[in-house]
Amino acid sequence: SAPILRRLDDLRAATRPWVLAGERIGVVPTMGALHDGHLSLVAAARERCDRVIVTIFVNPKQFNNPADLEKYPRTEEEDARKLARFGVDALWVPEADQMYPANFATTVSVSGLTDVMEGSFRPGHFDGVATVVTKLFTQTSATDAFFGEKDFQQLLVVRRMAADLDLGVTVHGCPTIRDIDGLALSSRNLLLSDRARTTAPRLHEEMEALVEGLRAGEDFADLRARAVARLEKAGFTRVDYLDLRAQDDLAALDAPDRPARLFAAAWLAGVRLIDNIAVS
Ligand code: PAJ
Repeated sequence: SAPILRRLDDLRAATRPWVLAGERIGVVPTMGALHDGHLSLVAAARERCDRVIVTIFVNPKQFNNPADLEKYPRTEEEDARKLARFGVDALWVPEADQMYPANFATTVSVSGLTDVMEGSFRPGHFDGVATVVTKLFTQTSATDAFFGEKDFQQLLVVRRMAADLDLGVTVHGCPTIRDIDGLALSSRNLLLSDRARTTAPRLHEEMEALVEGLRAGEDFADLRARAVARLEKAGFTRVDYLDLRAQDDLAALDAPDRPARLFAAAWLAGVRLIDNIAVS
């Protein structure tokens, strides 16, 4: 199975020959607690690249809520076991001081795309993501990187950033992997109680129903109000947003008159769930 590297010197030593040989290095950034969604990205990287590096780092800079960081699941041994059959070339699990030494003072900040949804409900979140992903790309000498559509806004932000900073990394988006009941796989699902876990798929169900309504020509504002009311009745304590937005620039829409997605974030029993689906 793949070597676990924790120091930048060791990572550089591992990647140097790959870089010199001009190999395609595919990187899959994660925060661990790996599930089939993460593993689908690893499989995509394995298919397209000569070398595959999976990174596991629970990035404190992207957590706007200290309690969320504290309770974020950490399952490194199990993660390494799950990766064993994928032919990963290296697991990059940096120690905190390798990523953020004491005098660290730089932030990568993407404007525009980050003004809405996760950006407005989680202040500082995307600065933390953009900063750590820039570092992960340069540390690993990535030529390709694989991100899930589960975090569609993150995918667009990272793609913009890689292009703007000439990082030389092609950012690939991969479809959302769901449980059989429709719930999008997420590390945070581990934090749901049994009872909350039975309610959680309602989010995706209501989103699918809303999209059906749009296809039937119904009014988005009406559909949204009804979906929010049903979610609250089902036990969701708050719906942060349920937005129809353009797929390329996340402009708010009130009808799917250009390629669009429906985006949602909602709280269930203290856990914040996000999801999005294509409309057309
Ligand atoms: P994490 O939540 O661990 O997700 C790592 C990658 O897996 C992301 O690209 C995410 O979109 C993808 N992913 C998560 N659930 C998925 C699912 N059900 N189907 C398909 N892909 C899924 O996202 C992060 O970590 C961090 O922000 C990170 C990019 C690692 C920066 O710290």
